[in-house]
Amino acid sequence: MLCLGIESSCDDTGAAVVDDGRTIVSNVVLSQNDLHERYGGVVPEIAARAHAERLDDAISRALQSAGVSLNEIDLIAATSGPGLIGGLLSGLLSAKAISLSRGIPFVGVNHLAGHALTPRLTDCIAFPYLMLLISGGHCQFLIVESASEFHRIGGTIDDAPGEAFDKTARLLGLGYPGGPQVERCAAEGDATRFLFPRPLLDSPGCDMSFSGLKTALRRATDEIANRKGGLSPQDRNDLAAGFQAAVRDVLIEKTRRAWAMFEDRHGPYARHLAVAGGVAANSAIRSGLQSFVDDAGALMISPPLSLCTDNAAMIAWAGIETYKASGASPLDLPARPRWPL
Ligand code: KG4
Ligand code: ZN
Repeated sequence: MLCLGIESSCDDTGAAVVDDGRTIVSNVVLSQNDLHERYGGVVPEIAARAHAERLDDAISRALQSAGVSLNEIDLIAATSGPGLIGGLLSGLLSAKAISLSRGIPFVGVNHLAGHALTPRLTDCIAFPYLMLLISGGHCQFLIVESASEFHRIGGTIDDAPGEAFDKTARLLGLGYPGGPQVERCAAEGDATRFLFPRPLLDSPGCDMSFSGLKTALRRATDEIANRKGGLSPQDRNDLAAGFQAAVRDVLIEKTRRAWAMFEDRHGPYARHLAVAGGVAANSAIRSGLQSFVDDAGALMISPPLSLCTDNAAMIAWAGIETYKASGASPLDLPARPRWPL
């Protein structure tokens, strides 16, 4: 079965062709970073227009690079939420139009299910597994029980960690997206010079909070700026290192708790921790998680970065799994900007 997947929930316009034998036949992502960079974040109206302008091109390129025509496509999957409404509507309407005109079944996919099911596409792991999703828009622990059953056991109560990295980059005068820039500075910095808070570590459970870190960072930045008239490169590096260490410590401790809950629920079947989302690219966070997993006698699965960040191959794969589990979606399926798993 060949599935054409479409992703347009945030700032990446994606189209991909995936086979149910787990082959990614093509995967096209048209990034909008160039459009949003100067604003330091995604501007919904600009994103919506760009999706509308670029989707046809992304779909044609995905089909062309797969060497297939629409006649050979068996299923169309599009992200129907959660995300920015303008982009979701563009993707959904394109998918429905192709479905209706060609008589190809259509499936609406939850974007988070797309991320959560990716380890099955890349590493063929069995259910159940624990998923840590850490990106610019999302932050949650999910026990993935099946293609249609996700048990959320915790997540951020305010910002996502990627958002915190982006805000930190802005505060320190670095570029967008901020994560890689902050990581680069942090590698040259002293993480012990500024001791930032580790929010919610003293409250039970797996919920997290990252917005307070920004306030702490701003206070430290203002204090230096007032005292010295500006930040030196070393100040910047030390602030970035302190911030990154705080995020890493919170993520590792909360993962420890989430893993204990997962083990309570599934005993010897608790084997895999899957980590996805742009923040999973951070090597300090990654190696911290890897040490925890090694100590716990478990295995960490982290799909390649191009499949960890937003893409349409994950939507096509989730479409295949969803279709096999519960069949096609109706053509009047609405877009759902808010759609928790
Ligand atoms: O998954 P993603 O591409 O998009 C969604 O948000 O869904 O994640 C992008 C986020 C951005 O906030 C970016 O700053 C962050 O992931 N990120 C990183 C790194 N690379 C990307 N954060 C920390 N360290 C990195 N190396
Ligand atoms: Zn995403």
